[in-house]
Amino acid sequence: MCGIVGYLGPDEGRDILMNGLARLEYRGYDSAGIAMVGPDCRLQIVRSEGKLSGLQGKLKANPISGTVGVAHTRWATHGRPSEQNAHPHRCGPFALVHNGIIENYAALKEELQAEGRRFESQTDTEVIVVLLDREWRRVGDYQQAVRNTLKKLKGSYALVIVNEEEPNALVAARKESPLILGLADSSFFLASDVPAILPYTRRVVYLNDEEVIFISREGYRIESLPDGKERTPKPHLVDWNPIMAEKAGYKHFMLKEIYEQPRAVIDTFRSVVDFEAKEVRFPELNLDRALLDRIERVFLVACGTSYHAALVAKYMIEGLCRIPVEVDLASEFRSRDPILNDRVLLLVISQSGETADTRAALKEGLDKGAHCRAIVNVVGSSIARMAQGVIYTHAGPEIGVASTKAFTTQLVALYLLAIHWAAQTGKLSGESVERYIQELLELPGKMEKILSDVARIGIWAKKYKDYKDFLYLARGPLYPIALEGALKLKEISYIHAEGYAAGEMKHGPIALIDAEMPVMVLLKRGPLYEKMISNIQEVKARDGVILALIEGEPNEIVGPAENQFVVNLSSEWLSPVLFSLPLQLLAYHVAVLRGTDVDQPRNLAKSVTVE
Ligand code: AGP
Repeated sequence: MCGIVGYLGPDEGRDILMNGLARLEYRGYDSAGIAMVGPDCRLQIVRSEGKLSGLQGKLKANPISGTVGVAHTRWATHGRPSEQNAHPHRCGPFALVHNGIIENYAALKEELQAEGRRFESQTDTEVIVVLLDREWRRVGDYQQAVRNTLKKLKGSYALVIVNEEEPNALVAARKESPLILGLADSSFFLASDVPAILPYTRRVVYLNDEEVIFISREGYRIESLPDGKERTPKPHLVDWNPIMAEKAGYKHFMLKEIYEQPRAVIDTFRSVVDFEAKEVRFPELNLDRALLDRIERVFLVACGTSYHAALVAKYMIEGLCRIPVEVDLASEFRSRDPILNDRVLLLVISQSGETADTRAALKEGLDKGAHCRAIVNVVGSSIARMAQGVIYTHAGPEIGVASTKAFTTQLVALYLLAIHWAAQTGKLSGESVERYIQELLELPGKMEKILSDVARIGIWAKKYKDYKDFLYLARGPLYPIALEGALKLKEISYIHAEGYAAGEMKHGPIALIDAEMPVMVLLKRGPLYEKMISNIQEVKARDGVILALIEGEPNEIVGPAENQFVVNLSSEWLSPVLFSLPLQLLAYHVAVLRGTDVDQPRNLAKSVTVE
């Protein structure tokens, strides 16, 4: 969950590396560091505890320089955040940055200590560079020493190494953690994620698992570690541009990304809906009619916000396709020995495409012969390349740790998958498909309308920002949105919040209700409306404070109008998108008023790529 960058080229590399780190800070931000081989071929390292600004301050006092270097922003796993545990770690002529976890580091450390090697930090990473130094002194060949070292490591890694003995070289490798190479004229950029290199190039090479890359000023060579085979992949042209990774005048990435949702939803459905033919097509899903007819059960598996999208999708796919759907948390699914076979479709959902539990769940499905597909936002990510077919959400780079636009585009992609499936298997007539596509076409306009009039949400945030607990209640496809609303408030404002199926209230949580408990209710017109009204009565009877997102128009039974936010009417399957927007904004404004770090909340990181 760290961010790593590397640079080798003709230009001064310090600012290139620091800019790259700034664009990866959402991956981890408890300490940072940079190492460069200077014009005097001497290794210079500067590290700092805390946010990147600390390192920038140190570099002002000690402006190291060079045309080859590595840098790192950390999310601590082994060894608490400190300057000593910050990367790069050095041993001999080598400085190394790493993202991942070395599972056998303790055994390797013991082996090296037995040989008299000393360690300065508590990290697993330092073991790699000490091992490299030992191997280099043993075999005398840098590249062979790198291979020998990597072959001893168990676990996950993306790492980049500079060597003051070879100032015209940069070496990197990956196994289960993301790493990309950016190419621009005679400059070579390495990074954990695309935003770090976008200001310099859009030509990208994705490294595969267990690959090592040797870069010189003349070019690079990619080698597969197990068999030494070389690979010369054709670079991809990323369709994101640097502006997309900027704040564009918004105070926070999260707010910018909330307001990008109508556009992101359009980009997502436009990529798969043929409006002429009134058809939905998924060019990269590899799921034809014959296979759809064979599928007897669907598993939707994900983590966090993506898991909430999966919960909504259960209602859609079972409702439209009449096929049983199980929804699982990836961290549970991967270790419960699920019953999978070639009659099962396993669909994993992930914004980053790198979340370790979701990747492991996908591997479980592949190993057990299920048909494995994925919905991801990051093209070229591990999950996108592991799955047998993919649907891409076109949300663009999502920098804010709290997922917003990726969530609503996932809901739209899942909506389209359900329509496609039902149409393919004759469960949905052409007219119905047309109607569903028409409702989708109206969605961005309805989203714009909600986002253009959110003053009431700001007032609620001011009024309720100091409450200690919040309860979110809903029914049907909106129940997962109650869970998502609670997650958003938890993760960026640090207020304890719970989402609950309203029908469950009287089985326990009603005991929590009193005048100190704001209760957010989500009210959709339709068969569950009256049931929600009785739940509201139960809360009011216990002096609970009701805040309501209500479809169509306010209802005095719910309470005073100022405690009601009207959401425009929409279909059963698309209302989850509309109801999400005010909940994202409430969490955002409460967090801003409480002064928390909205884009980089404490203890969190954008994608959880380590176990
Ligand atoms: C959501 O706001 C969080 N950032 C987190 O729960 C996230 O949804 C989860 O880590 C899954 O990430 P993914 O979609 O990239 O796999």
